[in-house]
Amino acid sequence: MKIHYDLVPQQTKYIETKHRKICTPIPHPTTIEVIKDLRLYETGSMHDQLPILWDSAKDYQIFDGCGNCFIDLTSTIFVANIGHSHPKVIEAIEQSCKKNLVNNYYYPSYERRDFVKKLLEITPPHLDKCILYTTGSETTEASFKIMRQNGKKINDEKIVIISFDGSFHGKTTGSQQLGGKPAGKEWIVNHDKDIYHLPFPTKWYLEDSGLKADELFLRDIKKLQDNGLNLANVAGIIMEPYQGWGALFYPQEYIDAMTKWAKENQVLITIDEVQAGFGRTGKLFGFEHYGMQPDIVCMGKAISSSLPLSAIIGRAEIINIDPSMNSTHGGNPVACSASLASLNVLIDEDLVEQSFQKGKILEKELLKWQSEFPDIISYVSSKGLVAAVFFVKKGTEEFDIELVDELIYKAMLKGVNSVRTLSGTIKIGSPLSIPIDALVEAIEVYKECLVEILEEKNV
Ligand SMILES: Cc1ncc(COP(=O)(O)O)c(C=O)c1O
Repeated sequence: MKIHYDLVPQQTKYIETKHRKICTPIPHPTTIEVIKDLRLYETGSMHDQLPILWDSAKDYQIFDGCGNCFIDLTSTIFVANIGHSHPKVIEAIEQSCKKNLVNNYYYPSYERRDFVKKLLEITPPHLDKCILYTTGSETTEASFKIMRQNGKKINDEKIVIISFDGSFHGKTTGSQQLGGKPAGKEWIVNHDKDIYHLPFPTKWYLEDSGLKADELFLRDIKKLQDNGLNLANVAGIIMEPYQGWGALFYPQEYIDAMTKWAKENQVLITIDEVQAGFGRTGKLFGFEHYGMQPDIVCMGKAISSSLPLSAIIGRAEIINIDPSMNSTHGGNPVACSASLASLNVLIDEDLVEQSFQKGKILEKELLKWQSEFPDIISYVSSKGLVAAVFFVKKGTEEFDIELVDELIYKAMLKGVNSVRTLSGTIKIGSPLSIPIDALVEAIEVYKECLVEILEEKNV
């Protein structure tokens, strides 16, 4: 059960290190008024984050404006890959605003031209066209439409899209149906009957099957056929490089079998890089780990490290198909300037390589932690600067959502801000620019908090 974070200021111990500072009760009493107002005016769906007021954020730190400073392990939610408020991004935003162009629909602009040119320069050469949007969900919706439209060109019934159980592709009606989380989908009622889900090949599922990963793919796709799906009608597959809640990657052999099957059956593959893209996994894009060539790539979040912008890119003959695919704020000039600056920083500061190198240290630290608490830390998954630590109730396989909620709350009181997955995992996604000693310090805080919680519970 998830914990409700109330707004009573908690007493804290004074902490001051190079990376964090806690000098008042948390949340600070003066910030509570703001949080209360938000709770008054907004729906509950906006209020389950840790009650830290974000007054400013710089690089890997968040400040509440009352003297407290937190190490950020979230990048808000995988957005600020190059660090919060990078001076080059701020400058680009200011420049755009100063010249008096803050929106221009999809009329031509220098800002959009410069950005899309750069975007296509840094992405694989076989992907040669893009469409800009504002949110990640719009890009997965767009890829859904494009995969179907292409399928229909081959055969009127080739409209089926395959996705994966447990996946996440957004919260709009289409993207939510593509996603593989049944909870919260009841409201849709008229589900698209031509979206199918394959089981995600977790290590546990693979072990239980007794098959090799490539055999598992072929078996599961055949199961869909045995249940009545005409495989000739599959138009596309959509997948994330890793499943967000648990940083779970696919086995290579599974991807090899899937891409081979897709090629043989004229099935397009969309990679949803909205979360994984722009260095998060230690490569520029997550799909590079698999040596595959997707037909369509969805991008968002860290594309700008700041303002809302998203994009799909793909092969021209596939995505240059529907003249209606544009939107009011897609390619906003200020967001394009910020995104161009962000891409340049990502490359100039070698942040992808930094993500890879720091990731190795992070993984080592987390595996050490797991070895100290094997009864409750059941698994660690990590690549680059995304990682997940799985907590279970002792002696069971049941995820301990409550323990993780307590742990991240306690860590907040000691100056560490965490992603709240509500899935029994601690998920780590700091800005790629975080100094390694700050990252290790934050993990030490988690360790300290776990010991304290276990002592309090007398376990
Ligand atoms: C993999 C993935 N796809 C799509 C989305 C949806 O993006 P947005 O919230 O910008 O619509 C997210 C957001 O968390 C995501 O992680």
